[in-house]
Amino acid sequence: MSGVKLGVNVDHVATLREARGTLYSDPVVAALLCEYAGCDSIVIHLREDRRHIKERDVIFIKKAVKVPLNLEMSTCREIVDFACKITPDQATLVPEKRQELTTEGGLDLIKNYKKVKGVIRKLKKAGVRVSLFIDPFKKQIKAAKDLGADLIEINTGVFSLSTTPVSLRREIKKIKEAAKLGKNLGFFVAAGHGLDYENLKEIVKIKEIKELNIGHSIICRSIFIGIVPAVEEMISLIK
Ligand code: PXP
Repeated sequence: MSGVKLGVNVDHVATLREARGTLYSDPVVAALLCEYAGCDSIVIHLREDRRHIKERDVIFIKKAVKVPLNLEMSTCREIVDFACKITPDQATLVPEKRQELTTEGGLDLIKNYKKVKGVIRKLKKAGVRVSLFIDPFKKQIKAAKDLGADLIEINTGVFSLSTTPVSLRREIKKIKEAAKLGKNLGFFVAAGHGLDYENLKEIVKIKEIKELNIGHSIICRSIFIGIVPAVEEMISLIK
C-alpha cells in the first residue's frame, strides 16, 4: 500500500450538464459514487464564470459526502466570501483566466503575495484549510511557506503535456525536487493536473507526494466503464 490519497475532481460531470442546460448529469451523485468507490476527497472548482460547478453543487456536495471537500477557487472576493460561508474542509487557491480551457499554470505567489496573504487569513479564520496550487519552482514553494499555507499542490500540467523523453525527464526532475523541498519545509505535498491512467506511473514513484487530485481522465473513462470502476481502477494504480 502506498498510502497516497486520491482526490477526484467531478467538475466535468457538471460540464456535461451545462452543455445542454439540463438538470442532469449531477455532480452531487458523481461525488457520492466516487466516495463509494473509495476516493479520499472530492474536488470541485467553482469558477468565476460558473461554467461547470455552481453554488448549489458546492452546498449539496458538502452536505452529501463524508470525505473531505476540497474547493478549488480563485482569490476573487465573491468566491472567497462564499467559501468562508460554506466552509469546505479545504480550499485550494488557483489562478483563473476567463478564456482558458482549464487552469493553466500554478498561482504566482511572488506576484500575488499580498492578495494571497489576505485570502489565506480570511479562509483560515473561517476554519478552512488552505492549499496553494503552484508550479514546481523553489521560490514558489518557499513563498508558500512564508504565506503560511497548510499544504501545497504541485502543478503537473506541464509534465502531463510533455511529449519527448527529454522534456518528460526534465519535468519529473522539477516535480521531484519541488516535492522534496515541500516535504522538508513541513508541507503535506499534493500534486495534480493532467494526470491520467498512463502518466500517473512516474508521479507515484515520487515518495514525497502524498495526494493526487485527478478529474478529467477519470470522468472520461467513466463514460465507457462507469464512474465506480473508473475510480477503483485509478486507486489500484496508485496503490
Ligand atoms: N488540481 C487542480 C488545482 C486543478 O485546477 C485541477 C483541474 O480543475 C485538477 C487538479 C484536476 O486536473 P485534471 O482534470 O486535469 O485531472
